[in-house]
Amino acid sequence: MMQTVLFVDDELSIRNAIERMYLERDDVHCLFAASGQEGLDLLEKGNVWVVVSDNMMPGMRGIEFLSKVRGMRPDTVRIMMTAHADLTVAIDAINKSEAYRFVTKPWDNKELMDTVDEALMRYQLIKSLGAEDESMYLSLAQTVELKDHYTKGHCDRVAGYAVALAKAAGLRDEMLNDIKHGSWLHDCGKIGVPEVVLNFPGQLSDDDYEKVMQHPRWGSEVARQARMSDTVINIILYHHERFDGKGYPSGLKADKIPIEARIVAIADVFDALYSDRPYRKAYDFDRAIEILQEMTETHFDQCLMGLFLPIAEEVRANG
Ligand SMILES: [Fe+2]
Repeated sequence: MMQTVLFVDDELSIRNAIERMYLERDDVHCLFAASGQEGLDLLEKGNVWVVVSDNMMPGMRGIEFLSKVRGMRPDTVRIMMTAHADLTVAIDAINKSEAYRFVTKPWDNKELMDTVDEALMRYQLIKSLGAEDESMYLSLAQTVELKDHYTKGHCDRVAGYAVALAKAAGLRDEMLNDIKHGSWLHDCGKIGVPEVVLNFPGQLSDDDYEKVMQHPRWGSEVARQARMSDTVINIILYHHERFDGKGYPSGLKADKIPIEARIVAIADVFDALYSDRPYRKAYDFDRAIEILQEMTETHFDQCLMGLFLPIAEEVRANG
């Protein structure tokens, strides 16, 4: 299915400029409307992934239009294009979740295209997660592994360790499937982080580091919109929290961190240490466990760690 973006602006010159800008992109199908009403008509007819709307238009304002889009097609990602003078309106629109992002006028071509591309990815992700299809989740996890240059199978191994640990911790059977899915998808928010940033060799700038740190929040928002279970959302949102409260994005401490996220945090780091990475070989088993134990005081739940050791031993025994 073709990625479709609808641009709504009452000024012809603006619609033309955007059309020219997208001429080279044969992977994106652009629709144009001169008013909110025209936009709604187009929306009715076909599948629109992303809507970009001006605010100051005769007739229906952009904000009203976007709110109608939200009612009609909740999964369509909405972007507001606004003049600087209109910025407070745009921020208000985001806070009331009428819009996902805004772009200011006059716009920068690259910035607009990047924002739209990110919104397109978001739409696709919402659709994949909302499909309630396991094979879709796994293929999504594999897409992230490729993008982030993990070793193949990382997410699936993390799922195996996490489910074993959840069983050992006595979690209810009904949770185990969600823990598997959450483990697969824990880094799905990295879809929203540019590849150059993810694979940057060396120290990231503060700005880029900030982008990487957004992946739990970005991913969990998408999972929430796709109406996934709380267990899955918690794993995506909290897998970088630390037991001492120095993790991100929320800085939750100890058992304030949902247990499913504490479990996946251990499984994730163990696999990271115990498998080859593009930039280093795997640690041998004893060293991997040593590092894990050194991190326990600051990063992990000590009780869970105690339950994990025999599981890790079994992993080694099975080669
Ligand atoms: Fe992560």
